[in-house]
Amino acid sequence: MRIEWSDDLSTGVDIIDSQHKELIKRINMLVEAMDKGRGREEVSRMVGFLGSYITKHFNMEERLMRRYGYPERNAHVDAHNEFIDDYKAFKDRIEGKGASSALATSTHRWLRSWLIDHISMTDRLFGGFLNVKAAG
Ligand SMILES: [Fe+2]
Repeated sequence: MRIEWSDDLSTGVDIIDSQHKELIKRINMLVEAMDKGRGREEVSRMVGFLGSYITKHFNMEERLMRRYGYPERNAHVDAHNEFIDDYKAFKDRIEGKGASSALATSTHRWLRSWLIDHISMTDRLFGGFLNVKAAG
């Protein structure tokens, strides 16, 4: 199922939202490929893309947290690091055993639920903080 962008996912911070939209676009590409029976190929591409993009994205958020003295920074960074650990486990499975449609499905399920939960709670909390800072 595709992820549709909605206000529930908006942090109110343009640079964060635009990178989240890119991540969602890629997850939707994986869904479309799975629907066409090409999940096996696309999941490898997806994992390759994520490796560099997610690091860049998390670093950008964490830089803003430091710059503005975000009080929930440690917990938020921990959540990012947990994601990276899980990501590495999926990557190892894909590179080790090779991609399969079952692995595409489990990777998609994990990515989708992690990202939606993280954006709608953890990132939105941070976005709210940034917007208050910017207004003050
Ligand atoms: Fe985040």
